[in-house]
Amino acid sequence: MTVSNTVTSATSDQEAGQRRPARSDRSFARPVLPPLLPASDLAAAVTAFHSAGSAARRWDVESAFRWDEAEADRLTEGQRSAVRFITLIEDHLPGYFDLYERAFPLNSDVDLETFIHNRELYHFTVRWAQEEDSHARALFRYQVAAGIAEPEELRRELAAEGRKKFDLPLDHAVSLFAYALVQEKATQLYYQQLRTVAGDPVLADVLTRLARDESRHFAFMADVVERYLRREGDAVVEPIREVIATFRMPLADTIRGYWRWALRIREVAHYDHTDAYAHLIRVVNRAVNARSDRVNELVTFIDACRTAPVPA
Ligand SMILES: [Fe+2]
Ligand SMILES: [Fe+2]
Repeated sequence: MTVSNTVTSATSDQEAGQRRPARSDRSFARPVLPPLLPASDLAAAVTAFHSAGSAARRWDVESAFRWDEAEADRLTEGQRSAVRFITLIEDHLPGYFDLYERAFPLNSDVDLETFIHNRELYHFTVRWAQEEDSHARALFRYQVAAGIAEPEELRRELAAEGRKKFDLPLDHAVSLFAYALVQEKATQLYYQQLRTVAGDPVLADVLTRLARDESRHFAFMADVVERYLRREGDAVVEPIREVIATFRMPLADTIRGYWRWALRIREVAHYDHTDAYAHLIRVVNRAVNARSDRVNELVTFIDACRTAPVPA
């Protein structure tokens, strides 16, 4: 087992909301560092997640949309660019799944108790992965049906990014969950915004389905982080703070021209990942009855890193 015990504390630069420049110059704890929730706690969150995504609410790429009506001419150039961007992000699923497999292994690298925890989490992870894979397939299908891309060319474009390794500069289990909480909410908000301006109703329908799924993914992560705060209190404050201090959206470090592209899609539909921070603050407030000094500092820090007011 390769475990790094070093958790870099935030610098004054990060307190000012600036980003740490490099993330690839050290390896991160894989498997992740404790604390881990008791398996029974995690099981309750997993059951709630599966209940929220019951059979009546599921959809599939083949039958949920009128693909023959998809029409890229109804989209602005910026909207087409946004579709290409989110397809790349969703299509990186094997990389995200690989991170979870390294972070929460199901083999002899971990002791029995950790395995029990990881096995429980896997009941979430495989379902989540299946849903994210559907997002990738739906966006691929849309691009082809609408005439944005040719399948062969698109496969190659996605593969060029997809083969790059994905990792996060986070060592603790709770950090990975808090990261996913922010990322899922940010994605949900962007899909909702893009849907309101999308010129093609087929794309709007796709984004509606995707946003609902992201909302359930967020709800699972919020449930888990809340349970951590209730159980562990101050002990998980620093690992959560670390998430905000280092936050970047997935693939920000690997997609060529990411920041230029990200700025462009922001012009198409309002997008600011720090909008999601307000939702993390709500989770902290729900979990903690009487805030300790450390929790107070955490909330102040998260709030200071936001660049926009709470969305209505
Ligand atoms: Fe997704
Ligand atoms: Fe998601």
